[in-house]
Amino acid sequence: MAESQRYVHIQTFGCQMNVYDTERMLQVLGEDGYASTDDPARADLILLNTCSVREKAEHKMLSALGRYHRLKEFNDELVLGVTGCVATQERDRLFKKVPYLDLVAGPDNIASLPKMVRAARDSNERAIETRFFNKREYDWIPLEPANRGQVSAMLTIMKGCNKFCSFCVVPFTRGREVSKPAELIVEEVRRLVASGVPEVMLLGQNVNSYGNDRPGEPNFAELLAAVNEVPGLERIRFTTSHPWDCTDALVESFAGQLSTLCEYFHLPVQSGSNSMLEKMRRGYTIESYMERIDALRRVCPDIAISTDIIVGFPGETDEQHAATLALLGTVRYDSLFAFTYSERPGTAAARLADDVPESVKKARLKDVLALQNRITHEGLKERHEGATVEVLVEGLSSKARRPEVDAIFSNQLTGRTRTNVVVNFERGGDTSFRVGDLVEVAIDEVNSHSLHGRVVRTVRSAQAA
Ligand code: SAH
Ligand code: SF4
Ligand code: F3S
Repeated sequence: MAESQRYVHIQTFGCQMNVYDTERMLQVLGEDGYASTDDPARADLILLNTCSVREKAEHKMLSALGRYHRLKEFNDELVLGVTGCVATQERDRLFKKVPYLDLVAGPDNIASLPKMVRAARDSNERAIETRFFNKREYDWIPLEPANRGQVSAMLTIMKGCNKFCSFCVVPFTRGREVSKPAELIVEEVRRLVASGVPEVMLLGQNVNSYGNDRPGEPNFAELLAAVNEVPGLERIRFTTSHPWDCTDALVESFAGQLSTLCEYFHLPVQSGSNSMLEKMRRGYTIESYMERIDALRRVCPDIAISTDIIVGFPGETDEQHAATLALLGTVRYDSLFAFTYSERPGTAAARLADDVPESVKKARLKDVLALQNRITHEGLKERHEGATVEVLVEGLSSKARRPEVDAIFSNQLTGRTRTNVVVNFERGGDTSFRVGDLVEVAIDEVNSHSLHGRVVRTVRSAQAA
């Protein structure tokens, strides 16, 4: 009798690199006979692909593990594993903390998963691999296109981080920077586009330090130019960049020659105070950061810029917090992500007293978000009132996300501008739009974080997969 089908369920936490890694895990486990399922109760293997950038993310993992543990009562062959950043942060300590855990695998150990799962399943051994691989050893496991009609595909082009900002756990959980060879990246993009994907998102914890470890090979700006040449590609996005490596060549990439490069730049600043930046070991000052922002806006006046902010870093005073608010007023970001400081084990900042009270951190977070909400809305109005924008159709808008009938009858579609603003729009009389089409939308309403409008014409129809 043929062996019955085995199923794997992966729950993903954290950043987009984890989302990409989950896809790679599903691919290698699929080759080993595991089909993916959304239903944990049906799974023979459950993996939590974890994040440890803030303490809250780790707590979420522990409570999820507790829930999955109960499923072992119904399936004694169920293998339960932790992958991702908590795996490399905690290593075998995880087995002590979570006695019913069967497997621990780091972000570099995806290729070993089938072997590890077999060991845990068949010989009841606990399996662990958390070693980092260097440039020569690293297995990139290029993703086969999923052919799921997706509009945007992610692609990790470098792993790890060499910066060691004092608050951050990433250099410890992901190891040193290793760049993926440019020809592998271009080939992966080519295959994605051939399968019908119009947009790629190039990923790395410091995506713009791409190539620093491969002298003589393409740097990040040159990689963007090479990817731009892939026939049929509509849009390139990338995230997340560090101000250190925001070179003149990268700035020049936005001057207009790369037709697929979206006018959007995420450039985390973290704080508006130079003394805070020094304690954070960020390696730039507000003046040098502003010089980069000005340079980007000089070559590309329409560029949208977003950032990350940490409030309540050890020792942060009211004045230093005010400097962050002042910076938001000066730069006028299009959007931002803000976080309260969370002490992470093993980081340099963990040796400083985490002395900003939680209530103050929360109040500062609220200040940042309230100010930015106002700036975001004002910016949207300035740029888009009465404008016509190019939108890549992603699907039905959230209002219309009901059963399949909506796909035929609903008029509400959604997509994004090149500057990453969500646009909900009416089909008008034309019902022939497909996901992946590029359309021009006349904006008739500016909401707090999104736009609404009506299609005026199709720029390009999606290519058939
Ligand atoms: N490599 C990127 C950031 C990666 S982590 C960069 O250098 O900009 C994503 C964001 O999480 C960071 O930009 C920072 O704002 C936030 N973050 C990282 N560590 C944190 C911590 N210990 N507490 C709170 N926020 C943190
Ligand atoms: Fe963390 Fe800094 Fe590296 Fe970003 S650059 S991943 S914040 S250490
Ligand atoms: Fe989290 Fe690791 Fe990404 S710590 S943010 S999953 S690199």
